[in-house]
Amino acid sequence: MKYTEQLKQVLNSKFEYTPKANVQTFGCVQNENDSEKIRGILAQSGYDISENYEVSDIVIFNTCAIRENAELKIFGNIGKLKALKAENPNMIVAVCGCMVMQAHIVDKIKKSYPFVDIVFGVNSIEELPHIVYNWYVDNKRQISSPETKTEIVEDIPVYRESKSKATISIMYGCDNFCSYCIVPYVRGRERSRKPEDILSEFKQLIKEGYKDITLLGQNVDSYGKNLDVKIDFADLLTMLCKVDGDYVLHFMSSHPKDINKKVIDTIRDNPKISRQIHLPVQSGNDRILGLMNRKYTVQQYKDIINYAKEQIPDIGFSSDIIVGFPGETYEEYLDTEKLVKEINFTQLFTFIYSKRTGTKAAIMEDLTSHKEKSERLNRLVKIQQDIFFKYLDSFKGQTVRALVEEKKGDTYSARMANTLVVHFESEDNEIMDQFVNLKITGKKGTVLKADLIINQK
Ligand code: SAH
Ligand code: SF4
Ligand code: F3S
Repeated sequence: MKYTEQLKQVLNSKFEYTPKANVQTFGCVQNENDSEKIRGILAQSGYDISENYEVSDIVIFNTCAIRENAELKIFGNIGKLKALKAENPNMIVAVCGCMVMQAHIVDKIKKSYPFVDIVFGVNSIEELPHIVYNWYVDNKRQISSPETKTEIVEDIPVYRESKSKATISIMYGCDNFCSYCIVPYVRGRERSRKPEDILSEFKQLIKEGYKDITLLGQNVDSYGKNLDVKIDFADLLTMLCKVDGDYVLHFMSSHPKDINKKVIDTIRDNPKISRQIHLPVQSGNDRILGLMNRKYTVQQYKDIINYAKEQIPDIGFSSDIIVGFPGETYEEYLDTEKLVKEINFTQLFTFIYSKRTGTKAAIMEDLTSHKEKSERLNRLVKIQQDIFFKYLDSFKGQTVRALVEEKKGDTYSARMANTLVVHFESEDNEIMDQFVNLKITGKKGTVLKADLIINQK
């Protein structure tokens, strides 16, 4: 962090005003969590954080590599910066995150995007002041090649937009190597943060009044495996729930091969933990699950869900599904439909398989047309929509607790612990970022409508 001060001095000498920094997230919650650290570091180095890239002195794109269309979108957005950079050569254009952990992407940026000034990797966030400092001092491009570091750097300042909702990374990387997935290649090996570091960040957030906290990891159920102390994910949850306060604790993502009865029992015994679990199943067919290297069967998946529903009757499950994995037949796809109807997921994120260079699945034969894959996706989306609307209807007349997140005109938007969004009208200006009790009156589109009943301050 010693370059923070040096960068501050350079900025002082270069600018007559406080320079602005804009950081844009293109990936998952983990990616956004990294963006918050990048903003924290930039704010500490003397930048004002701005939402407007057009007026910013440094623009950082924090990228994602999960599917081809994510990368295409990012390149489209990078391309748009060319004109801006031509007008204002002093503006720094930087690209970081998962996408630039791939050598062929870094080569492409080097060759075809000469106006990109800085490229830095996923595990080099703390080096940012040094890299920006070097750009000013050397006056040349700072493009670092992908390098997977494994050390965990603590105490990076975090710039959080919300006053009530926060995420905490409990681990980094992934060792699962699902055959379709690029994450283990771009994020490196799995490593867990020390429980005491997580606990102190958590306590600090609760002290600051945060009420909705999500623990992040690619596979939270394997938390603790590389640590010297004996601790698993359920132990971590139990430890955190002992912290006094009025809050909801979420986590994502769980892996069906690793979530176990101990985790479920811990949720059952701790009312502060959200009764909504994201448990990506990916496919409802055992042959495809095998090819995906997921290491569980459909029956094992159903068994853990059934156990959870027995123990915690109001528990809900959301999931991710990939259609059109190489070689997936129509009949095998129908198994996924069957599972979706059977489980009644509260929410489903459906994706068409996207080939990722370097993964095992990339060399598997894939004869299904894109049209056929789109049809499978559309059918699943339709099935899930009907399930979701019925699920929303089931709340009608119920009294629920929700955290107020946003206000537009007189309409407030609040989020229940199960992540459903509820809209209600109120003229009360004191309820922002607070829990309120609401009586559900119906739904509009994908959100619930409600009346405010008690204002809990
Ligand atoms: N670690 C998490 C999530 C990883 S990415 C987990 O295992 O659950 C989020 C989702 O993107 C995955 O669950 C998967 O459904 C989807 N995904 C990953 N790679 C993909 C690919 N190559 N094509 C399409 N979808 C993909
Ligand atoms: Fe990708 Fe599988 Fe790891 Fe999730 S668990 S990040 S899908 S390799
Ligand atoms: Fe997340 Fe995309 Fe990286 S989903 S982990 S930002 S590849």
